[in-house]
Amino acid sequence: MTRLIVHSSVDANDVRLDTRDFQVIEAELAALGARIERWTATHPLPPDATPDQILAAYAPEIERLKRERGYTAADVVSIKPANPNWPVLRQKFVQEHVHDDDEVRYFVEGSGAFYLHAGDRIIQVVGEAGDLLSVPKGAPHWFDGGEAGDFTCIRVFTDPAGWVAHYTGDEVWRTFPRFDKAA
Ligand SMILES: [Fe+2]
Repeated sequence: MTRLIVHSSVDANDVRLDTRDFQVIEAELAALGARIERWTATHPLPPDATPDQILAAYAPEIERLKRERGYTAADVVSIKPANPNWPVLRQKFVQEHVHDDDEVRYFVEGSGAFYLHAGDRIIQVVGEAGDLLSVPKGAPHWFDGGEAGDFTCIRVFTDPAGWVAHYTGDEVWRTFPRFDKAA
């Protein structure tokens, strides 16, 4: 379930806020320049929907976001349990990094957690199916999709080349529980 947890950055067990209240989550993220939205598909999707079918079902929301935020492209990324590439990808995502573009993810299926590092706080937000989460460009963060890895996400970009991880070298991510344990 969509959830936001605010931790001290020096002690993951020091939890300052733990909420599933959408309006509170929205306000906490807005204060960071991040956002959450709830999207619905224009029509039901089959379990084995293709990327084109997924993009078509959410086209009105994607087009609105492009107009509002200047994004130019969208695609679909899918990780299913037992994907042999997941452990390597996971290790890339869980190290603190920044991007030159916003990181915009809509969870079509599955779930995952973003961790935003803002001063002396780590803001963990767990997204699930129906949630759009975005991290503003330049904001230090990391992501975990769990041990198994199980999510299908629409990604929305200003420039696909902008989605390159620049690692900050901050090791704070090592002191936080992985998504499986925290969810
Ligand atoms: Fe990222």
